Amino acid sequence: MNRPASRSPKAAVEAAVEAARWAPSVHNTQPWTFAVTGEEISLRADTERKLRVSDAEGREMLISCGAALFTMRTAVRRAGYEPVVRVMPDPDRPALLAVVKPGAAVEPDEGVSLLAAEIERRRTHRAGFTGLPVPERLVEALVKSAQAEGGRLTPVAAPDAVAVLAALTRAAQAVQAQDRRFSLEVIRWARPPGSKRADGVPAGAYPREPAPTEPHFAQRDYSWRHGWGSGNGDPGATSTGVVAVLTTPGDTREDWLAAGQSLQRVLLHASAYGVSAAFHTQVLEMSHLREFLREELCSGEYPQMIMRLGITFDDKDAVRRPVEDLLG
Ligand SMILES: Cc1cc2nc3c(=O)[nH]c(=O)nc-3n(C[C@H](O)[C@H](O)[C@H](O)COP(=O)(O)O)c2cc1C
Repeated sequence: MNRPASRSPKAAVEAAVEAARWAPSVHNTQPWTFAVTGEEISLRADTERKLRVSDAEGREMLISCGAALFTMRTAVRRAGYEPVVRVMPDPDRPALLAVVKPGAAVEPDEGVSLLAAEIERRRTHRAGFTGLPVPERLVEALVKSAQAEGGRLTPVAAPDAVAVLAALTRAAQAVQAQDRRFSLEVIRWARPPGSKRADGVPAGAYPREPAPTEPHFAQRDYSWRHGWGSGNGDPGATSTGVVAVLTTPGDTREDWLAAGQSLQRVLLHASAYGVSAAFHTQVLEMSHLREFLREELCSGEYPQMIMRLGITFDDKDAVRRPVEDLLG
């Protein structure tokens, strides 16, 4: 139904940039910049913020930017406009990932309002979940959400397959922990307690001593022997939750951007129903392990994210750079 938009196109553009800041990004690198020209927003990858060791190709950087793109689209919709998006519009400028502008005035429907309300509220979880079940109908709806953006979310139900994924995660984490280059990169993006930095993973975003889940999915070592981290808000929470892999049929830059949009749609949708996600993407940063996973568990599709979905009552910290720092 067309009707006058609730905010001006200029206000919609401002709201979109403000909202995009809250997208998830690998190690909270926030690898994006925005340029606003009239009523058009250009989303660019900030390659200075790419993880040179663990993400040399920029796959995780583009997934992060894809999440920011979905967030912008949702904010434009919430402001009362159909977003008009051109993805990778200029082959000569590969860092220019998308141009977004408010199009026709459209009343935001309930689904849009539901997702938009979660943009700032959603947080990454880094421990076990409570034993409260994630409703099967919600999981089915999340699969559809991912599909609508070009990704495939596959819940991994078979205990043997879950065990394989958990073991791969532990192996990848152990190898990375022994590799100085990987460790230094994680340390660079870990924020010490009390740090004023507006990027990186804050000590208030993970428990100091998370109780292991069964099977155990290894966490990133953001504290690196410092004993950083918050108190355990959910001490009895040791459930693995629903393990799921997000895949794409191809592995191009367009696929990565689509994976990011799928991811954020799934995360906002889950968050609207009180379900959080924990990520374990170490495996995907090691090409041989990623290839093994693709062949053995993903029917030949390319794994882009590994996550656990579940219910937690643990509050986490989140930091983001102010809009002024993001405008290129
Ligand atoms: C591509 C990608 C990979 C990620 N991998 C991990 C991971 O392996 N472990 C983890 O704890 N968080 C992971 N995250 C979550 C980020 O650390 C998180 O989004 C960021 O710190 C911002 O925090 P927030 O999601 O709570 O807003 C990943 C996020 C993205 C987009």
